Amino acid sequence: MRRALLHAVLLHAVLVAAGSHAFAAGEAERAVDEAKRRWSESPHGPMLERILPPSYSPSSLPDPDSAGAKLAIQYCVQCHNLPNPAMHQAQKWPGIVQRMVVRMQGKGNMGELMKDMMAGVRAPTEAEKASIVAYFEKHSQKPFDPKRYPDIHEPQAQSFKLACSQCHVLPDPQRYTAREWRAVVTRMEKNMEWMNRVVGSQPVRGEPQLRVEEINAYLAKHAKRG
Ligand code: HEC
Ligand code: HEC
Repeated sequence: MRRALLHAVLLHAVLVAAGSHAFAAGEAERAVDEAKRRWSESPHGPMLERILPPSYSPSSLPDPDSAGAKLAIQYCVQCHNLPNPAMHQAQKWPGIVQRMVVRMQGKGNMGELMKDMMAGVRAPTEAEKASIVAYFEKHSQKPFDPKRYPDIHEPQAQSFKLACSQCHVLPDPQRYTAREWRAVVTRMEKNMEWMNRVVGSQPVRGEPQLRVEEINAYLAKHAKRG
């Protein structure tokens, strides 16, 4: 417990220092490493670690020098891996950020669970929150428009439709070329493995299996020409 507290204090110091001036190279990564160390000290660490996958890092954030990116690193890695703004559509982010801010203020519905983690967790000011929301909205996911792709109702589209709408809105196939999609789908397979372990869910009988080839074929059909 003492060690956990010490790490929380250290993390706090790192985050305060990081927030007060522009990130030097490597500083953002260090803040993330510090946060990870802190979860490892918490009995809830393994659960927190699985909330979001580690696939997304500060160096891959869009517009990394913007205030929003810096605030995301400062506040959003305190409990879990760095969220990718492209995960959700713009419309969803204000609500999600608000849900997280409530937690940072120590009032979340996981308050009991979070109590031992809360020493040193900082919440953004209203202005900082607005900046985070604007940043996540700006770089958000473009949702799939079923009017544009009426074949989404056909049998060969069902794997894509079911598998790729579990954690976020169904993405627009025009986002990437067929080749780029294959890499994204491979990463999503890893995300699925990682995030499923949060709840330790076993495949339910009768649940659709992941048909990667079918998914890639559907995406390729509508992908950006590369
Ligand atoms: C105080 C701890 C804490 C902080 C700090 C925190 N989160 Fe979370 N986050 C959680 C918990 C707990 C969950 C899992 C439960 C849930 O989804 O509400 C979660 C889940 C998520 C998810 C996955 C669920 C979904 O709706 O897709 C996203 C995305 C997310 N957080 C984004 C953020 C962002 C953006 C920030 C920074 C503004 C942030 N989090 C800061 C505790 C935190
Ligand atoms: C288990 C949850 C989960 C499932 C299921 C899932 N994703 Fe994701 N997706 C995420 C997370 C987490 C992120 C943000 C982190 C990242 O980009 O790896 C994300 C981000 C994305 C993004 C935006 C990032 C980018 O690179 O453009 C796209 C597009 C995407 N997913 C497509 C898909 C497709 C296609 C499928 C179906 C094969 C899928 N997702 C299934 C969790 C999931």
